[in-house]
Amino acid sequence: MSVAKKEYKRITTKTLVDMKSKGEKISMLTAYDYTMAKIVDNSGIDVILVGDSASNVMSGHETTLPITLDQMIYHASSVVRAISRSLVIVDLPFGTYQSDPKEALRSSIRIMKESGAHGIKMEGGKEIKESIKRILNAGIPVMGHLGLTPQSIYKFGTYTVRAKEDTEAEKLKKDALLLEKAGCFAIVLEKVPAKLAEEVAKSLQIPIIGIGAGKGVDGQVLVTHDMLGMTHEFNPRFLRRYLDMFSEMTGAFQKYIDDVKSGNFPTEKEQY
Ligand code: KIV
Repeated sequence: MSVAKKEYKRITTKTLVDMKSKGEKISMLTAYDYTMAKIVDNSGIDVILVGDSASNVMSGHETTLPITLDQMIYHASSVVRAISRSLVIVDLPFGTYQSDPKEALRSSIRIMKESGAHGIKMEGGKEIKESIKRILNAGIPVMGHLGLTPQSIYKFGTYTVRAKEDTEAEKLKKDALLLEKAGCFAIVLEKVPAKLAEEVAKSLQIPIIGIGAGKGVDGQVLVTHDMLGMTHEFNPRFLRRYLDMFSEMTGAFQKYIDDVKSGNFPTEKEQY
């Protein structure tokens, strides 16, 4: 059992801020369904992100843009039914918060009411400040997301490292401070130089959770299907694979197929 699992019965947004002040790193992974969420929660993870990466991982879309609010709510409610300890945060999908703060609040309320999740995550800084304030005023915790923000992939044109140039790095620092001042309880920083991420983490009170942002931040997040090696065509430098599930599962399926074809399954013990 992990050290964190012993110490905290239930993770809240306050727990995460306390962890940062104690210098304890925060662990976060994605989940989109009941069975995976049950295993991840039972392992002692601090935060489960119902990411809009479900659009890629679960539905096979090239980007995160197509996933809908109804689909995110379906994934999130499956995850919430599985957990007993982790904090569950849900991505507001593309097109459900960018147009105006009232729509952003309506989308967030639907997620909270219909899934039972504990908070939402939104991509962007200054541009979405009013929406963040409105959502927070309704009592809904907000996690920010800066750096590589996949919902803006067609603006960036590429998934390469963000904020390498001074101008973008300065904007990112300002945005991070703005998110903290607005009341966000944490920020995900995706694919930015490690030095910049560390500087941001040191300058803020709220936790910075990195993905491809180096070790100088307050926690790490990975997409579960990537770290388990279930996806194998995606190989960014930051991704550590803890299993090769693609090969393991392929081997198991092939063995099953062989057993069925050869009549080796089922045996007498496996029938009624
Ligand atoms: O959607 C997602 O899984 C995410 C993580 C990569 C942080 O936003």
